[in-house]
Amino acid sequence: VSAAFNIMVIGTDPKLAAEVNSALEALVDVRGVTYPVSERRQAIEAARSRAPELVVLELSTDLAGLAEFARDMEMVSPHSTLVGAFRNDLLMHDVSESAFLIEALHCGLKDFLRRPIPTNELRALISRLKRPSARPEAWGSIICFISNKGGVGKSTLSVNVACGLAKRHPDRVLLIDGSLQMGVCASMLDLEPRTTLTDVVNERDRLDSTLLRRLAVRHECGLDLLAAPANAIEAAAVDDDVMSRILTLARRTYDYVIVDTFPMFDRVIVGILDMSDRCYVVTEAGVPVLRGGVKLVQLLDRIGYPAERLKIVLSRHIKITGGLTPAEAAQRLGRPVDYVIPFDKQVLICANTGEPYILRGGRGWLQGFVRSVKPLIVDLEMMRDEALKLGSSTVALAINGRGYGLKKVGELNDSAEGEAEAR
Ligand SMILES: Nc1ncnc2c1ncn2[C@@H]1O[C@H](COP(=O)(O)OP(=O)(O)OP(=O)(O)O)[C@@H](O)[C@H]1O
Ligand SMILES: [Mg+2]
Repeated sequence: VSAAFNIMVIGTDPKLAAEVNSALEALVDVRGVTYPVSERRQAIEAARSRAPELVVLELSTDLAGLAEFARDMEMVSPHSTLVGAFRNDLLMHDVSESAFLIEALHCGLKDFLRRPIPTNELRALISRLKRPSARPEAWGSIICFISNKGGVGKSTLSVNVACGLAKRHPDRVLLIDGSLQMGVCASMLDLEPRTTLTDVVNERDRLDSTLLRRLAVRHECGLDLLAAPANAIEAAAVDDDVMSRILTLARRTYDYVIVDTFPMFDRVIVGILDMSDRCYVVTEAGVPVLRGGVKLVQLLDRIGYPAERLKIVLSRHIKITGGLTPAEAAQRLGRPVDYVIPFDKQVLICANTGEPYILRGGRGWLQGFVRSVKPLIVDLEMMRDEALKLGSSTVALAINGRGYGLKKVGELNDSAEGEAEAR
């Protein structure tokens, strides 16, 4: 099965997408998935997560704003080929067609399609594109740890899972400290970051894979860290837009992108969730914390986060009389508990020494915490293997499954009931 081309069609005329589709249908050897959007702004947003191979833009005689649009498109989706579609009768008699086309090329268009789009022109155009097979299925997985109560073990899990993966896949794992105002990842790794997310913000318009790797700090186990900003003022500059850019690039640069977060439900978190292949809701079996966990799971459901990408982690678990068992916790959550991580004193000790427990080894090491985190790491490897194995036949699914267009917090109407509590 050949890979499907992801084609974005931009314009207010619904016939344009229909023309692209019917030309596609006539091509037996090419599969394409079209995605129509009406406005350019919206197109940029969608291109960021979908990275279409081909972008077909409805052209008018007015080329104002085209150069800027082409630049933005190039920035969010550098592998996309932008072409203009126009009707033969678009051009007035006093405008020479060649002058118009040359000007459009100067604005950054790569090619043109005449409407109605002839099948052979579309085929010729597609044959000149880079095959999609080299990309989407090879994209890395984005994995986040979230909670709506503080101190449940998100950072501990993020750091240890990231290190565990990096040891087995050196160079291929990025940890992003998205706990922006209170980042602890660097300290848990005993690193003093010379560059942080703030540098990424400052370089946002020039960001590419090389620069991203350069702005990450290296840990000896093979992990790269994008550290949290140094202070709250800098942290405020990390918005959802820059975060989506980072994630878009990160998944093209690394195999695993782990995101630690702060317990607050804002646009940045929704942006992270929107691009995550896996989201771990971290909670505890104590009743007050678990109640928060229940609300968070409900909220994720309401904003449209796919349930199959969600996993529940019962963290810092202790068996005490009167405490809830994992089964009881599952009942309250209305879904199974996927991982139980025991409370382990060694974790506290390691947090102080800046050596992630998973890297330490030694006597009794494979008990408790490390033993329970390993399956989580193995599951992530399986998730990625699965994506690679299914490969090209599911490219279209993979593309459409990323960027869920989750509802932003403000878009939920009866917010009082479902709103996540900050701690
Ligand atoms: N499995 C565990 N056993 C024992 N202690 C743990 C375990 N997991 C985390 N801790 C400890 O609990 C405290 C909170 O953990 P951590 O900082 O990872 O939580 P967090 O959810 O990231 O918190 P925040 O919401 O403030 O970012 C830390 O002192 C950490 O060392
Ligand atoms: Mg934390």
